Amino acid sequence: MTQWVYIEDVADHVGEKIEIRGWMFNKRSSGKIHFLQLRDGTGFIQAIVEKSSVDEEIFQIAASLRIESSVMIEGIIREDKRSPYGYEMDVKNIEVVQIPIEDYPISKKDHGVDFLMTNRHLWLRSKKQFHILLTRNEIIRAVREFYNLKKFVLVDTPILTGSIGECSGEVFDIEYFDLGKAYLAQTGQLYLEAAAMALGKVFNLGPTFRAEKSKTRRHLTEFWMNEAEMAYYSSDDNMEFQEELVSYVVKKVLERASDHLMAIDRDLKPLEKVKAPFPRMSYDEAIKLLQKKDFDIKWGDDIGGDEETGISEEFDKPVMVYNYPRNIKAFYMQPDPSNPEVVLCNDMLAPEGYGEIIGASQRIHDPDLLVERIKEFNLPVESYDWYIDLRKHGTVPHSGFGMGIERLVAWICKLDHIREAIPFARTIYRIHP
Ligand code: 4AD
Ligand code: MG
Repeated sequence: MTQWVYIEDVADHVGEKIEIRGWMFNKRSSGKIHFLQLRDGTGFIQAIVEKSSVDEEIFQIAASLRIESSVMIEGIIREDKRSPYGYEMDVKNIEVVQIPIEDYPISKKDHGVDFLMTNRHLWLRSKKQFHILLTRNEIIRAVREFYNLKKFVLVDTPILTGSIGECSGEVFDIEYFDLGKAYLAQTGQLYLEAAAMALGKVFNLGPTFRAEKSKTRRHLTEFWMNEAEMAYYSSDDNMEFQEELVSYVVKKVLERASDHLMAIDRDLKPLEKVKAPFPRMSYDEAIKLLQKKDFDIKWGDDIGGDEETGISEEFDKPVMVYNYPRNIKAFYMQPDPSNPEVVLCNDMLAPEGYGEIIGASQRIHDPDLLVERIKEFNLPVESYDWYIDLRKHGTVPHSGFGMGIERLVAWICKLDHIREAIPFARTIYRIHP
C-alpha cells in the first residue's frame, strides 16, 4: 500500500513513492507530457505525467482530466528548485474519483465580485482564499493562545438573548415561543460581566449579529467577535491589555503565516512594527487633529470610517483613541470622574486605513447610576434586572472590550473588503450561499 501524504509534508518523502489525494486545479499539456496542478487543502504541487514512463491508459486518463477533477495520484517526490512549490511529483498511477460533470465556473479571467460571491462555495478553493482562510485560522489560534497564557477562562455567551447589548436599532429579532421577542446577540458583554464577577478574567469568541444597513467594506451582519472582561481593571489596565493582545497576535501570525501573507502580496514590514506600546490620543485631541486635516467635524460628533482613516494614517502602529463624549457611546460606560461629559473608553484603530478593530470601556459599577443611564437611553429597565443585580452584590470597577475578528483579518491580510475575511459573508445583500 502506498502511503497517503498531505502536500504540506512532501518534503519528508523525497525519493519515495507516495499518494496525494486532492483536486486538479489546472493543467498544461503537450503531446508527450501533462503537467497537473494539484491541491489538497494543505498546499499545491505540480504532478508530471510523462508518456514514456506510465501505461498508455494512465496517460489517457491524465488527458481526460478536467479542472477540479478529484483524484488520488501515486508518484515519486522529487525536489525541484525551479518549481514555485519546491517539489514535484513524477506520476506513476492515477485513480479518478470524479471527472466533473460540468465546466468549472471560475477561471483565471477577471470575474466580478458579485459572481464570485454567488459562487463562494467554489471560490473558497482559489489560492488567495486559501491563504486568507489559513491566516484567519492562525489569527484565531493566536487569540485563544494569548488568553490561555494569561489564564483567562473561556465563557461561551448565549446567541439568543432577552436584552439588547449595544444599540437597539440594529438588532435581529425573532419570535420566541410564548415569551415574546428574543434577539440575536450583538455582543456577549453583559453575560461576560456576570462571569467576570464569578471567574475574575474571562473571554469569549463567537458570532455576533447586527442588522446594520451599512454598505461599507467594513460591515457584516454576522461577524465573529472576541470579547474579554476583567474584574478590577481600570480603563488604563484595559488599554494595556489590548495592546499586548494585538501585538501577540500579529507576532504569532508573522511567525506562522508569513508564507500565506506573502503569497497574497501582503507587505510584512508594516506588520513588523506592530509592537506595544501603541500611541494614544484622547477624543479631544483626535477632533483637533481632524479639524487640522480639514475634516468637517466638531466636538460631540461621532468619529466615522473616513475620520478613523484620517487619524490612523498619522501613525504606523494601531492607535488608541480614548474617552469619547458620553452621548455617542453605549449606556453602560463609566463616566470620567474628572469630566462626566466623557466616558472611560477607547477604540483601537488599525493602521493602513483599516479603522476600528476594538471597542472597549470601563463599565458603570454603581447601581443607581446604571439605572439612570438605562432610562436615559429609553431602554426597558426590566430586561436589565439581572445586569443591574450584578451591581448590588459586591460590585467592583471592571473593564472589557470586543475585537472584530474579520476586521483583524482584513487588516492583517490587507484585503479591500471585509467579505473575504470570513468563509461565508453575511451582508444586507447576501444570505446565499
Ligand atoms: O464597538 P462594538 O460595537 O463593541 C461592542 O459590541 C462591545 N459590547 C464589546 C465589548 O466591550 N465587550 O464592537 C466591537 C468590535 C468593533 O470594534 C469591530 O471590530 C467589530 O466588533 N464590529 C464589526 N465587525 C464587522 N461588521 C460589523 N458590522 C461590526 N460591528 C462591530
Ligand atoms: Mg465600536
